[in-house]
Amino acid sequence: MKLIQTIPELKALRARWRAAGERVALVPTMGNLHAGHLSLVEQVQTGADRTVVSIFVNPLQFAPGEDFDRYPRTLADDLAKLDPLAPDVVFAPSVDEIYPQGYPIATNVVVNGLAERFCGEFRAGHFVGAATVVTILLNLVQPEQAIFGEKDYQQLLVFRRMARDLHLPVEILSGPTVREANGLAMSSRNRYLSDEERASAAVLRQQLVATGRALRAGHRDFAALEQAARVQLRAAGFAPQYFNILSPELEPATSQHSDFVVLAAAVLGAARLIDNIRLDDPALAA
Ligand code: PAF
Repeated sequence: MKLIQTIPELKALRARWRAAGERVALVPTMGNLHAGHLSLVEQVQTGADRTVVSIFVNPLQFAPGEDFDRYPRTLADDLAKLDPLAPDVVFAPSVDEIYPQGYPIATNVVVNGLAERFCGEFRAGHFVGAATVVTILLNLVQPEQAIFGEKDYQQLLVFRRMARDLHLPVEILSGPTVREANGLAMSSRNRYLSDEERASAAVLRQQLVATGRALRAGHRDFAALEQAARVQLRAAGFAPQYFNILSPELEPATSQHSDFVVLAAAVLGAARLIDNIRLDDPALAA
């Protein structure tokens, strides 16, 4: 496992891999790695000759007043966690390396429509920043495959749409959400929760499961189901931002749909938590 922090070094290695005909997979992250990230690395390693994990806390995707300054930067710990998996490269550039002219930059990747709703409504500029940096990382690493976690379902769809619209020569893969024992989706931002909040945070998953079960049982009063979940979230101390039953493409659900995703974001203490559930989630069969 080689730590690379500069673009010329990355490009030189990528050129050698290309000359050898090797297939490359990229796992973009902002570091502070947890079991969810590690499972993405393991997943892509099975289909690629070379794996690159990028660690870059991207200033462009934080809205003003968000947690860019206090976002955990834990490179030494991250390297120790990756060591047993032995990806070929950890690419951990500085902000100056990625944005040598400073930021914001003049050129941005905007995914209209899809990126403006849900998280896009609450995090000004977030998806523009995320889509832009992922495009930069894809251009630098030039992977055949890139993988993203399904916890960030809207983000995953934004990247898929971007790759399709721009004919990017990359396959976008996804990996399942990894959860704490109480159901809380693993996230670097969970460290902002107190012990008490961490216990209450399980209610978000519980409400997603309850709504998913109701949908599987044939309930179609979407507004009532959403409202009931928001009431339970408020009772548990959350400030819900959205809790929506949608088509898998994130269009409003109708009774004509046979498949759904329930998408949620809620603030608990100092943490903004997002999660979602699909109707094929094994928890719904129980
Ligand atoms: O999901 C994340 O951690 C980030 O949005 C990503 C994809 C690494 C881009 O900075």
